[in-house]
Amino acid sequence: MINAWKIMKPKYHRYTYRETLAASEKINWRVEDIIGGEKTLDFTKAFMPETLARTEMIRFLSPSERLVLNQIRGNGYLAMFGVLEEVILPFVLDHARAQLVNDEYCVRSFLEFAGEEAKHLHLFKRFREEFQQGFGTDCEIIGPVEQIARNLLSHQSLAVALFVLQGEWMTQSHYTDSVRDNGDLDPQFKSLLKHHWMEEAQHAKLDTLMVDALSASLSDREIEGAVEEYFEITNFMDAGLKQQVELDLESLMQATGRTFSADERKTFQEVQHQAMRWTFLVSGMTHPNFLATLEHLVPAGRSRVEKAALAFL
Ligand SMILES: [Fe+2]
Ligand SMILES: [Fe+2]
Repeated sequence: MINAWKIMKPKYHRYTYRETLAASEKINWRVEDIIGGEKTLDFTKAFMPETLARTEMIRFLSPSERLVLNQIRGNGYLAMFGVLEEVILPFVLDHARAQLVNDEYCVRSFLEFAGEEAKHLHLFKRFREEFQQGFGTDCEIIGPVEQIARNLLSHQSLAVALFVLQGEWMTQSHYTDSVRDNGDLDPQFKSLLKHHWMEEAQHAKLDTLMVDALSASLSDREIEGAVEEYFEITNFMDAGLKQQVELDLESLMQATGRTFSADERKTFQEVQHQAMRWTFLVSGMTHPNFLATLEHLVPAGRSRVEKAALAFL
């Protein structure tokens, strides 16, 4: 049965390539405008909102140790985006090539999308340099990136597009729900998140259009298969997040010089793994616009993702 469900359902969004391209062309910042020179990070302030960092829940840390952990999480947050965008860049470029037969707005929108992700990768690399200089000790990140990218890109296109879409909406909600009106955060880190968010708003729409295009010729059964593979990706990422928590604990010990008992380590791992899951998986999986796409794609698509998100909580 080809797409009977989608044909019956009313259109659930009004995104167009033309409008997305116009919005994207209005935003025009350079990496040099956002970081470097006088634009320095303030290490006396938090980088991440507490809703994502969850350092307060680790009661045995002192306020200054919580601040250090918050900054480790800030560095890790952008590094994780860097990992994801190493996947998104070749994926979007491949999709753009396949769209060369389509109209100019479509092709140009995807090329703009890829160009912006390449710029974001550059921005995150510059941030890492600034962070390392100011923070003082090294903070390791999971990898190698190429291996993670290879794993994600080995999945079918619709599964990858769903994972990317989840990430784009997640970025939107992080900024609007907990960064934009937060006066406690370092203004420099906040500015970086703001400029990233501005361009990601277009990506979320383009990725929705990509999901439409990739699913148009698939049967319900094939789409269900893609949703299954999307879960394989979220589970793979979850294992990576758990590993990142271990690395963050090492970074915290190195930066503060303190050690932890077995019980403290356990609490740290539990609290931070849940914080990571919320940040990088659940906040995207439960985003209303992501769920609307799943609902439109295939019967039970939405409820299966909601159930999978609950399992991560
Ligand atoms: Fe990005
Ligand atoms: Fe993006």
